[in-house]
Amino acid sequence: MITRLTFDQISTAVHDAYEACKDIKGGQNAHYIPYLANVNSDLFGISLCLPDGRLISVGDTDYRFGIESVSKVHTAILALEQHGAQAILDDIGADATGLPFNSIFAILLENDRPSTPLVNAGAIAACSLVKPHGDADGKWKAIFDNMTALLGSKPQLIDELYHSESATNFDNRSITWLLQEYGRMYDDPEMSLDLYTRQCSLGVTAEQLAISAATIADDGVNPLTKKRVFGAALTSKVVALMSAVGFYEHSGDWLYATGLPAKTGVGGAVIGVMPGLFGVCAFAPPLDDAGNSVKAQAALKHLMKSLNLNVFSNTHYYVISNCNIFCDDCLINCYILSDKGLFHNDRVTHYTAFFNHYTRSDNRVINFTVDFTAFADDTSFNYGFPGYVLRTDDITFGIDLPELLI
Ligand code: DON
Repeated sequence: MITRLTFDQISTAVHDAYEACKDIKGGQNAHYIPYLANVNSDLFGISLCLPDGRLISVGDTDYRFGIESVSKVHTAILALEQHGAQAILDDIGADATGLPFNSIFAILLENDRPSTPLVNAGAIAACSLVKPHGDADGKWKAIFDNMTALLGSKPQLIDELYHSESATNFDNRSITWLLQEYGRMYDDPEMSLDLYTRQCSLGVTAEQLAISAATIADDGVNPLTKKRVFGAALTSKVVALMSAVGFYEHSGDWLYATGLPAKTGVGGAVIGVMPGLFGVCAFAPPLDDAGNSVKAQAALKHLMKSLNLNVFSNTHYYVISNCNIFCDDCLINCYILSDKGLFHNDRVTHYTAFFNHYTRSDNRVINFTVDFTAFADDTSFNYGFPGYVLRTDDITFGIDLPELLI
């Protein structure tokens, strides 16, 4: 089944999710990191970014908080980009552990690899893989620059959080040295642990994280800066990693309930990626026992349910943005045409559009039909056709272009 989503539908669903969840109580701030324990527990925001860069934000979406484990996704992308998908599978893995994010037991069980870059062991190993090898400053620059490119703007290190984490990360030190013992650290262990701790201490907003999630949804092109951050072929790998272990020991329950590939962090953020459709971030500090934000989970569940979206369903949704008709030469230009595929952005190859009833300045109604083709490896396409001059100015259609049918 193919269905169209409008901007208004998505916007309403985001606002409804906020209203429905804003008074939810329960959970508590991460208490094992002193800085996080003191963040205002009432903060709550949802931000959703479309592939054309439009943002729908409600609540505390410009509050800067600790990115924490959500950063594992960003650095996994960097390691994938630098080393390739096969090397990451060989050196780290892509398995769900079924255990908490900082489990040492998981490393003992699967001692040939750290399991996945989205749990602590694999994330520290991913930092050890980041190039340039042996160069702490160069590696940090690569991590920071990659994060900036994904977010579309700079994160800011929260010094207090960094010191708070560094002083209390005893389990991560054990993990690091156990990996070293198993030959699964690929650079200096202390340096790699410090890079991991620093990346977790980066301050970001829900809006920034939504943009980075939308960059994944848009096959590696940042929808705001329009810059390519990673190769399109990596999207399915990143989304697969998020699906398998984004909620740690609750990943299966989460996917079953929502159909949204997502990743959590103990700072209170959850990011979700619907390939081809949008990236989203919900943020609220109080966490459940597994370290996942109570309100953010509820909000994203609400959103997916009200839009009737599910990455596993056979319903294909499409979103069309920024269609212009340049009238003197009758060029139809659609900036982005995106369609949901399972774990990847499956741009559809052929559409027929029926544009009806555009009124010229002399009030004559024109009907016409045009076929056009979208190319799978391109985010924009043009189709020129001979015929009428419709208007002298550009007509810009929003996402809810009503006459566009498939
Ligand atoms: O490694 C840690 O303990 C933290 N810096 C990050 C943990 C985290 O966010 C787990 N995710 N829910």
